Amino acid sequence: MDYKDIIDLQNLPKHIAFIMDGNGRWAKNQGQHRLFGHAAGVESVKEVIKTAREIGVSYLTMYAFSTENWSRPSEEVEGLMNLLVEAITNEVDEMHQNGVRLLTIGNIKGLPGKCYESLLEAMERTKNNKNLTLVLALNYSARQEILEAAKKLTELAQKQELDVTQVKEEDFAQLLQTKDIPDPELLIRTSGECRISNFLLWQLSYTELYFTEIHWPDFRREALLEAICAYQKRERRFGMVSEQIQKA
Ligand code: FPP
Repeated sequence: MDYKDIIDLQNLPKHIAFIMDGNGRWAKNQGQHRLFGHAAGVESVKEVIKTAREIGVSYLTMYAFSTENWSRPSEEVEGLMNLLVEAITNEVDEMHQNGVRLLTIGNIKGLPGKCYESLLEAMERTKNNKNLTLVLALNYSARQEILEAAKKLTELAQKQELDVTQVKEEDFAQLLQTKDIPDPELLIRTSGECRISNFLLWQLSYTELYFTEIHWPDFRREALLEAICAYQKRERRFGMVSEQIQKA
Protein backbone atom coordinates (compact mmCIF):
# COMPACT_ATOMS: atom_id res chain seq x y z
CA MET A 1 0.00 0.00 0.00
CA ASP A 2 1.20 3.48 -0.81
CA TYR A 3 1.97 5.66 2.22
CA LYS A 4 -0.25 8.39 0.82
CA ASP A 5 -3.26 6.09 1.32
CA ILE A 6 -2.70 5.73 5.05
CA ILE A 7 -1.15 8.95 6.31
CA ASP A 8 -2.21 12.57 6.01
CA LEU A 9 0.71 14.50 4.58
CA GLN A 10 -0.79 17.76 5.86
CA ASN A 11 -0.52 16.57 9.46
CA LEU A 12 2.94 15.06 9.63
CA PRO A 13 5.09 15.32 12.73
CA LYS A 14 7.94 17.60 11.77
CA HIS A 15 10.26 15.94 14.27
CA ILE A 16 10.20 12.31 15.45
CA ALA A 17 12.43 11.07 18.28
CA PHE A 18 13.30 7.40 18.77
CA ILE A 19 14.40 5.28 21.70
CA MET A 20 15.74 2.32 19.76
CA ASP A 21 15.27 -0.55 22.19
CA GLY A 22 15.32 -4.32 21.92
CA ASN A 23 18.37 -5.05 19.80
CA GLY A 24 19.72 -7.43 22.45
CA ARG A 25 16.44 -9.30 22.91
CA TRP A 26 15.93 -9.57 19.16
CA ALA A 27 19.38 -11.15 18.81
CA LYS A 28 18.86 -13.48 21.78
CA ASN A 29 15.55 -14.71 20.31
CA GLN A 30 17.54 -15.92 17.33
CA GLY A 31 20.34 -17.43 19.39
CA GLN A 32 22.72 -14.70 18.26
CA HIS A 33 25.17 -12.34 19.96
CA ARG A 34 23.87 -8.92 21.09
CA LEU A 35 26.08 -7.17 18.53
CA PHE A 36 24.25 -9.01 15.78
CA GLY A 37 21.13 -7.22 17.02
CA HIS A 38 22.84 -3.82 17.01
CA ALA A 39 24.06 -4.41 13.45
CA ALA A 40 20.50 -5.25 12.38
CA GLY A 41 19.42 -2.09 14.24
CA VAL A 42 21.60 -0.02 11.92
CA GLU A 43 19.55 -1.36 8.98
CA SER A 44 16.39 -0.10 10.71
CA VAL A 45 18.01 3.32 11.20
CA LYS A 46 18.71 3.43 7.46
CA GLU A 47 15.19 2.39 6.52
CA VAL A 48 13.59 4.86 8.92
CA ILE A 49 15.71 7.72 7.51
CA LYS A 50 14.80 6.74 3.96
CA THR A 51 11.08 6.55 4.74
CA ALA A 52 11.08 9.82 6.69
CA ARG A 53 12.79 11.57 3.81
CA GLU A 54 10.35 10.16 1.33
CA ILE A 55 7.25 11.33 3.22
CA GLY A 56 8.71 14.67 4.28
CA VAL A 57 9.55 14.47 8.00
CA SER A 58 12.19 17.14 8.66
CA TYR A 59 13.95 15.99 11.86
CA LEU A 60 14.77 12.60 13.39
CA THR A 61 16.51 12.25 16.72
CA MET A 62 17.85 8.80 17.61
CA TYR A 63 19.06 7.72 21.03
CA ALA A 64 22.09 5.71 19.96
CA PHE A 65 24.15 5.72 23.19
CA SER A 66 23.29 7.06 26.64
CA THR A 67 25.76 8.03 29.36
CA GLU A 68 24.40 4.98 31.25
CA ASN A 69 25.33 2.65 28.35
CA TRP A 70 29.02 2.86 29.38
CA SER A 71 28.17 0.35 32.12
CA ARG A 72 27.56 -2.41 29.56
CA PRO A 73 30.23 -5.09 29.07
CA SER A 74 33.28 -3.48 27.43
CA GLU A 75 33.03 -5.83 24.47
CA GLU A 76 29.53 -4.54 23.70
CA VAL A 77 30.52 -0.87 24.15
CA GLU A 78 33.48 -1.35 21.84
CA GLY A 79 31.32 -3.20 19.31
CA LEU A 80 28.73 -0.39 19.34
CA MET A 81 31.41 2.27 18.79
CA ASN A 82 32.88 0.29 15.89
CA LEU A 83 29.43 -0.11 14.37
CA LEU A 84 28.86 3.61 14.63
CA VAL A 85 32.13 4.46 12.88
CA GLU A 86 31.39 1.85 10.21
CA ALA A 87 27.85 3.15 9.65
CA ILE A 88 28.96 6.79 9.42
CA THR A 89 31.84 5.96 7.09
CA ASN A 90 29.71 3.77 4.82
CA GLU A 91 26.64 5.99 4.75
CA VAL A 92 27.98 9.54 4.67
CA ASP A 93 28.15 9.73 0.86
CA GLU A 94 24.58 8.59 0.42
CA MET A 95 23.37 10.83 3.25
CA HIS A 96 25.04 13.78 1.60
CA GLN A 97 23.60 12.95 -1.83
CA ASN A 98 20.15 12.73 -0.28
CA GLY A 99 20.45 16.09 1.43
CA VAL A 100 20.63 14.69 4.98
CA ARG A 101 22.35 16.88 7.57
CA LEU A 102 23.96 15.13 10.54
CA LEU A 103 23.95 16.69 14.01
CA THR A 104 24.73 15.24 17.43
CA ILE A 105 23.66 15.90 20.99
CA GLY A 106 25.53 14.57 24.00
CA ASN A 107 29.16 14.78 24.94
CA ILE A 108 30.77 13.43 21.77
CA LYS A 109 34.24 14.46 22.96
CA GLY A 110 33.92 11.62 25.46
CA LEU A 111 33.63 9.04 22.65
CA PRO A 112 36.63 7.10 21.33
CA GLY A 113 38.82 9.25 19.02
CA LYS A 114 37.90 7.58 15.74
CA CYS A 115 34.22 7.87 16.55
CA TYR A 116 34.54 11.54 17.42
CA GLU A 117 36.55 12.27 14.29
CA SER A 118 34.22 10.46 11.92
CA LEU A 119 31.26 12.32 13.42
CA LEU A 120 32.98 15.71 13.09
CA GLU A 121 33.88 14.96 9.50
CA ALA A 122 30.35 13.83 8.60
CA MET A 123 28.80 16.85 10.32
CA GLU A 124 31.11 19.23 8.51
CA ARG A 125 30.44 17.59 5.17
CA THR A 126 26.64 17.59 5.53
CA LYS A 127 26.19 20.90 7.36
CA ASN A 128 24.43 22.74 4.52
CA ASN A 129 21.98 19.96 3.65
CA LYS A 130 18.31 20.82 3.91
CA ASN A 131 16.12 17.77 3.20
CA LEU A 132 16.27 16.10 6.59
CA THR A 133 18.23 16.61 9.82
CA LEU A 134 19.38 13.46 11.61
CA VAL A 135 20.32 14.10 15.23
CA LEU A 136 22.25 11.29 16.90
CA ALA A 137 22.15 11.35 20.70
CA LEU A 138 25.52 9.93 21.74
CA ASN A 139 26.96 9.84 25.25
CA TYR A 140 23.78 11.76 26.01
CA SER A 141 21.98 12.43 29.28
CA ALA A 142 19.00 14.80 29.43
CA ARG A 143 19.62 15.68 33.08
CA GLN A 144 23.22 16.51 32.25
CA GLU A 145 22.04 18.67 29.35
CA ILE A 146 19.66 20.62 31.61
CA LEU A 147 22.30 20.96 34.32
CA GLU A 148 24.83 22.32 31.81
CA ALA A 149 22.23 24.84 30.61
CA ALA A 150 21.58 25.93 34.20
CA LYS A 151 25.33 26.41 34.72
CA LYS A 152 25.59 28.52 31.55
CA LEU A 153 22.66 30.61 32.75
CA THR A 154 24.41 31.22 36.06
CA GLU A 155 27.61 32.25 34.29
CA LEU A 156 25.73 34.70 32.07
CA ALA A 157 24.00 36.14 35.13
CA GLN A 158 27.30 36.49 36.97
CA LYS A 159 28.75 38.36 34.00
CA GLN A 160 25.56 40.46 34.04
CA GLU A 161 24.83 39.45 30.47
CA LEU A 162 21.28 38.55 31.40
CA ASP A 163 18.71 39.27 34.07
CA VAL A 164 17.69 35.96 35.64
CA THR A 165 14.32 37.34 36.73
CA GLN A 166 13.43 37.94 33.06
CA VAL A 167 14.49 34.55 31.67
CA LYS A 168 11.70 32.83 29.71
CA GLU A 169 11.36 29.19 28.66
CA GLU A 170 12.47 30.12 25.12
CA ASP A 171 15.65 31.70 26.51
CA PHE A 172 16.45 28.61 28.57
CA ALA A 173 15.79 26.37 25.55
CA GLN A 174 18.45 28.33 23.67
CA LEU A 175 21.03 27.10 26.21
CA LEU A 176 20.24 23.44 25.53
CA GLN A 177 22.12 21.37 22.95
CA THR A 178 18.94 21.22 20.88
CA LYS A 179 18.75 25.00 20.64
CA ASP A 180 17.97 25.22 16.93
CA ILE A 181 15.89 22.07 16.71
CA PRO A 182 12.10 22.16 17.15
CA ASP A 183 10.67 19.95 19.90
CA PRO A 184 9.55 16.50 18.70
CA GLU A 185 5.83 16.04 18.16
CA LEU A 186 6.21 12.26 18.40
CA LEU A 187 8.46 9.95 20.44
CA ILE A 188 8.62 6.28 19.49
CA ARG A 189 10.08 3.69 21.85
CA THR A 190 10.34 0.13 20.65
CA SER A 191 10.44 -3.20 22.44
CA GLY A 192 7.66 -2.78 24.98
CA GLU A 193 9.40 -0.62 27.59
CA CYS A 194 7.36 2.43 28.62
CA ARG A 195 10.04 4.77 29.99
CA ILE A 196 11.80 7.95 28.87
CA SER A 197 15.21 6.84 30.22
CA ASN A 198 16.82 10.27 30.58
CA PHE A 199 16.09 11.25 26.98
CA LEU A 200 15.11 14.83 25.94
CA LEU A 201 13.39 15.54 29.27
CA TRP A 202 12.84 19.24 28.53
CA GLN A 203 11.96 18.83 24.85
CA LEU A 204 9.37 16.06 25.32
CA SER A 205 7.01 18.18 27.47
CA TYR A 206 4.15 18.12 24.94
CA THR A 207 5.29 15.23 22.77
CA GLU A 208 2.96 12.35 21.94
CA LEU A 209 4.46 9.11 23.27
CA TYR A 210 4.12 5.93 21.23
CA PHE A 211 5.25 2.60 22.59
CA THR A 212 5.37 -0.53 20.46
CA GLU A 213 6.24 -4.15 21.25
CA ILE A 214 8.30 -4.40 18.04
CA HIS A 215 12.05 -4.79 18.69
CA TRP A 216 14.15 -2.10 17.00
CA PRO A 217 15.71 -4.39 14.33
CA ASP A 218 12.17 -5.19 13.15
CA PHE A 219 11.08 -1.54 13.16
CA ARG A 220 11.01 -0.78 9.45
CA ARG A 221 9.01 1.30 6.98
CA GLU A 222 5.60 -0.19 7.76
CA ALA A 223 6.05 0.18 11.52
CA LEU A 224 7.00 3.84 11.10
CA LEU A 225 3.95 4.53 8.94
CA GLU A 226 1.77 2.78 11.53
CA ALA A 227 3.21 4.96 14.31
CA ILE A 228 2.59 8.14 12.31
CA CYS A 229 -0.95 6.95 11.60
CA ALA A 230 -1.56 6.42 15.34
CA TYR A 231 -0.15 9.89 16.04
CA GLN A 232 -2.53 11.42 13.51
CA LYS A 233 -5.53 9.88 15.25
CA ARG A 234 -4.66 11.62 18.50
CA GLU A 235 -5.91 15.03 19.51
CA ARG A 236 -3.14 17.29 20.78
CA ARG A 237 -4.81 19.61 23.30
CA PHE A 238 -1.81 21.38 24.94
CA GLY A 239 -3.83 21.81 28.14
CA MET A 240 -6.95 23.13 26.37
CA VAL A 241 -10.35 21.44 26.03
CA SER A 242 -11.42 19.54 22.95
CA GLU A 243 -13.89 22.22 21.72
CA GLN A 244 -11.16 24.86 21.70
CA ILE A 245 -8.95 22.68 19.50
CA GLN A 246 -11.78 21.94 17.06
CA LYS A 247 -12.56 25.66 16.69
CA ALA A 248 -8.94 26.62 16.04
C1 FPP B 1 19.05 -0.65 22.75
O1 FPP B 1 18.86 -2.03 22.61
C2 FPP B 1 19.95 -0.17 21.74
C3 FPP B 1 21.11 0.53 21.97
C4 FPP B 1 21.62 0.87 23.30
C5 FPP B 1 21.95 0.97 20.86
C6 FPP B 1 21.21 1.46 19.67
C7 FPP B 1 22.18 1.55 18.58
C8 FPP B 1 21.97 1.21 17.30
C9 FPP B 1 20.69 0.77 16.71
C10 FPP B 1 23.08 1.34 16.37
C11 FPP B 1 23.40 2.79 16.25
C12 FPP B 1 23.87 3.12 14.95
C13 FPP B 1 23.63 4.28 14.32
C14 FPP B 1 24.24 4.50 13.02
C15 FPP B 1 22.73 5.31 14.90
P1 FPP B 1 19.31 -2.95 23.82
O2 FPP B 1 20.68 -3.42 23.56
O3 FPP B 1 19.14 -2.22 25.11
O4 FPP B 1 18.29 -4.10 23.71
P2 FPP B 1 17.76 -5.03 24.91
O5 FPP B 1 17.00 -4.13 25.84
O6 FPP B 1 16.89 -6.02 24.20
O7 FPP B 1 18.96 -5.64 25.56
